[in-house]
Order: sequence, then C-alpha cells, then structure tokens
Amino acid sequence: MGNVSIVVGAQWGDEGKGKWIDILADNADIVARYQGGNNAGHTLYIKGQKYVLHQIPSGVFHPGRVAAMAAGVVINPGELVAEINKLLPSVHVTPENLWISPRAHVITPWNIFLDHERENRASDPIGTTKRGIGPTYGEKANRAGLRMGQFINPDARQMWLREKLAQEPGFKSFYEQHPKVWSDFAEVAATLAPYVCDSETKIRQGARAGKNILLEGAQGTLLDLDHGNYPYVTSSSTTAAGACTSLGLPTKTITHVYGIAKAYVTKVGSGPLPTELHDETGALIARRGNEFGATTGRPRRCGWYDAVAMRYAQSINGFDHLLVNKMDILTGIPLLKIAVAYKHPRLGILKDFPWDNTVLKECQPVYEEFPGWTDEIPKQGFSKDLPPNARRFLAAMEEHTGCRILMVGTGPGREEFIKLG
Ligand code: IMP
Repeated sequence: MGNVSIVVGAQWGDEGKGKWIDILADNADIVARYQGGNNAGHTLYIKGQKYVLHQIPSGVFHPGRVAAMAAGVVINPGELVAEINKLLPSVHVTPENLWISPRAHVITPWNIFLDHERENRASDPIGTTKRGIGPTYGEKANRAGLRMGQFINPDARQMWLREKLAQEPGFKSFYEQHPKVWSDFAEVAATLAPYVCDSETKIRQGARAGKNILLEGAQGTLLDLDHGNYPYVTSSSTTAAGACTSLGLPTKTITHVYGIAKAYVTKVGSGPLPTELHDETGALIARRGNEFGATTGRPRRCGWYDAVAMRYAQSINGFDHLLVNKMDILTGIPLLKIAVAYKHPRLGILKDFPWDNTVLKECQPVYEEFPGWTDEIPKQGFSKDLPPNARRFLAAMEEHTGCRILMVGTGPGREEFIKLG
C-alpha cells in the first residue's frame, strides 16, 4: 500500500493550501481534489510566475503526476475548459494527467442562477461566491443532479434536461430565455469527454499497487457543511473524512493528515469570526498579507490566531502535523495575540468551539499576549534561524492547538519555508 495523505484547511479557507500541495506533490503519484468547485482559488508561484487554479488540482504542474477530480467535487465545465486552456503553453493538460470522475456533479447555469437569486433575496446572505456551489450540492442530495458521466453523453444529458423541464418549477422559463448559455454549456462536453474515467477505481487500484496519493482539500474546516458554523459554510465536506467519502477510500488507508493554517485567521463571507480585528492591526495584516479572495477579489476579514477554532479543527481532522503560513506578515507588530478560550456573557468561559452561531456571535475571545519580533524572518532555514519571539509564538500555537508544526511558510514561492520538525 502506498502513502495516502490528506491536506485540509484548518481554518475558514484561504490558508494557502496550494503552496503546500505543490510541495508535497513532489512525492505523490496522484493528486486528487476531493470537494468544492470553482469557489476555490489556489494561488501558486512557480519560477516567478503566478498561477491561480480554481478547479484543477495543483499536481498538474508536476510532470509524470496525475491530477484527479474525485466524486465529491462539483465542476463548472466551461470554466474548467478555460482553465485547461489558460495553462497552455507552460503546462499541457491531457487525459493522461487529468482524470475527471464521472460521479462528480456538474454546476449548471441554472445552479448559478439559483445561487445569485438566493443571495440577492436573503435577509441574511451567506456571502457565497455565487458560483452555483450550494444549489449543485443541493440538487445532488436531492438526487436530481447531472453527473459528469451523463453530461458527456448527449442522450443522457437530454434525458436529464427533459426531466428537469418537467419537474422543476421555474427551470423551463430560465432555459427558454437563455438559449446561448445552454448551448455554450453543452458545447464543451465533447472537449471534456476524453478526461472522464472511473478515477476512484483507478486511484484505489493505484493505492493498492503502492502509489503515493495526495488528497487535496479546498476551503477549510470551519466551512464544512456538517461541522462548520452553519449556515455560513460551503456545501461540501471539507474535512479529512470528506476526502475518504469523495474518493471511496477506506479510512484505514490514510497515512497522514496535514492541517494548513495561517499564523492569523481570515474569513470571506458572512458569519461570526470571534477574533476579528476591526482596527489598524487588522487593516495592516490585510494589506501586508494581500488578503483578497483569489476567486472573487473580495477583501478578507482578518483576526488573531484562534486556538479554540484550531483545537476544534484538530479534534475533527486528527492532524498529524500543521503547516503554518504567513508568519512573515506578523513581523514588526509589537504585541501579538492568540485566543485560548472564549468568554460568553451567560455560559462563562468556553474552551470548546460552540455549535450554535448565536452563542458564537456573543463570544469574546480570551487572549494570551506575546511580544512580537522586528528581525525579518529568513526565507529558508530551520527553527534556530527564527527570531526567538517568533519561536515562542509558534510554540504557543502548538501548545494551544495540540499539534506539532512541521514547517512554516515564509513567502509564496515553492522554496520559501522553514523546517521546524
Ligand atoms: P460557496 O462555497 O460559494 O457556497 O460560499 C459559502 C461560504 O464559503 C461563503 O462564506 C464563502 O465566502 C466561503 N468560501 C467558499 N469558497 C471559499 C474559499 O475558497 N476560501 C474561503 N472562503 C470560501
């Protein structure tokens, strides 16, 4: 049996998973994305060039590796073709190095329309990316979805369409009013057809034959449909267990789970963020950290490292190690904080992340404070090369999260990290 590792976002998404997946992909034969759709954005800097991937797994940059999109992913076909074409000429995406699951569900123009409608009409919008993600997963759960396997087969696609026209209120008039949108949608099916294969079976066979598999998560634990702060979540299972469900892999095949976190937190969209900073320090972190969404360009809300949320993420995912990004952004801030508990006006001190958003909204963080550092963090090196206060801050993150940090990212490039472990 080969190694099967999972990379999971430990916070509210945008932790910088792409960079680590790109590094870890060096030792992988197959890199498979397990959930989400083009709501995600993985930014990678390779040889000084910036790439933003929304759907294709980062493994595609490694010659000889396979990138796969598994059953739990949702796919916008037109956007996927555009992404494949955008990678040319530097990266050639072929049916040999990109496998698309026939079980993955398709984001249709109708799903995108519904996402806009719901957000625009909601009294308390979720702040979705409006990419049709929620309605696509909803349709899947309702057993009315269009899967990639059907999408690429004209007869099966027609059958789905006939059923939809007959069953779904409002669909017929939307369909009739947008003939070009629907013909464009269907047109790319033939282009994607060669990529569609039984990727889950092939990956299971690969794992049994000793291949190393890396499972790539999108978004983060606090955005998980079941365990995140619902309803301000995405509609998929972002956690490590979600990877097994998506791939159809036995849980016991998993050899390593990496949690990716920033040295602070960010969130896009609505919902409580207990350690959010509304002051100049928050604005400074946002500016320095370039905290704007890779997909929507929306500014991200910034706050202190939240060890309550991180302990929760650790307990759900069972991280073997953390990989921490953006320590360098904190350089020069004189006083740093870590939330070690929450204080609620009625419930007192809470050490565990509450399930109830109304409670979470009323929580105030209980902070431990740490002196900052002014010396630049080196781009590469080992723990001993870090300013002593940076080492103390990392040690406190480890202690309050209950997990060892293996590496610390010091910049966006592949080679920019410090080894702690
Ligand atoms: P949806 O996934 O577009 O339905 O959006 C649901 C929630 O998840 C919103 O708060 C989004 O801002 C958030 N979200 C979705 N994708 C990402 C991501 O890649 N990074 C951070 N937040 C995300």
